[in-house]
Amino acid sequence: MMEEHIKLIDIVVELVDARIPLSSKNPDIDRLAAGKKRMIIMNKADLAQPAASERWKSRFEAQGFAVLLLDARNNQRTKVITDMIREVCKEKLERDARRGIKNRPIRAMIVGIPNVGKSTLINSLVGKKMAQTGNKPGVTKGKQWIKLNKEVELLDTPGILWPKFEDQTVGERLAFIGSVNDQIIQIEELAYRFLTEWLKLDQTAWSTAYGIEDGCRDPLTAIGLRRGCLKQGNEVDLHKVALLVFDEYRSGKLGRITLEEPEKEVGADEGC
Ligand code: G4P
Repeated sequence: MMEEHIKLIDIVVELVDARIPLSSKNPDIDRLAAGKKRMIIMNKADLAQPAASERWKSRFEAQGFAVLLLDARNNQRTKVITDMIREVCKEKLERDARRGIKNRPIRAMIVGIPNVGKSTLINSLVGKKMAQTGNKPGVTKGKQWIKLNKEVELLDTPGILWPKFEDQTVGERLAFIGSVNDQIIQIEELAYRFLTEWLKLDQTAWSTAYGIEDGCRDPLTAIGLRRGCLKQGNEVDLHKVALLVFDEYRSGKLGRITLEEPEKEVGADEGC
């Protein structure tokens, strides 16, 4: 669908998740959007570590993208986005003006993986409930043109998720943030992988969040005991612990956690 519509588009606005800016960036979009103006919105910046977001912003800007850090639920930011789109497309507006073309809106295509916040952003932009939002990955369906103002029109697309994750780390990180349906993955193993990654990054934040001194060897059991997630016979209910961990991570209760740094390549051996 993107290939079909790209000719009509002046600028591709890509939403990535600020907690995993690399893994949430669909690699196909660079090819599909070749030759178009580009903008990256690092959404859910309220859940990401601010200094890491700034590093990512500089990295993307160095690659030629216009970049905005955003909490899409905050509709005060609408004007910033349309202003930025105008600024990036100002050559086109000037060209149109020279040719005597008036009132031709800038056409933007908004893309991103499921659950990254596209519907929320569009609702914030248009100021009313328009795009469907929901708590399950992939609820944005079909396509629609949305008039933001006299100058900018948006093409919404369904969440695009590439069909297979060649890199296991990318797939896991997408699952951590909730862009892969929890029901199709082994959630206890996933929670273990998440806690191991987080421990490597920030032992102090981990200990503070759960009040556990040393949880590196068996973090799920340690959290289960601490939080009273027990089954009959006082055995730790690992499934319950895993659900708790992801609920707290995804809602920001564990603090602002960015799992990727611009300097590091995804999949590189990071050791424990
Ligand atoms: P999608 O269209 O890209 O699939 O995503 P959608 O807008 O449905 O957003 C998915 C979830 O992410 C929603 O939460 C939404 O509120 C939340 N969200 C979107 N943008 C941001 C942001 O910048 N910061 C934070 N913290 N959350 C954001 P939900 O719990 O699934 O639904 P709801 O109960 O909030 O409606």
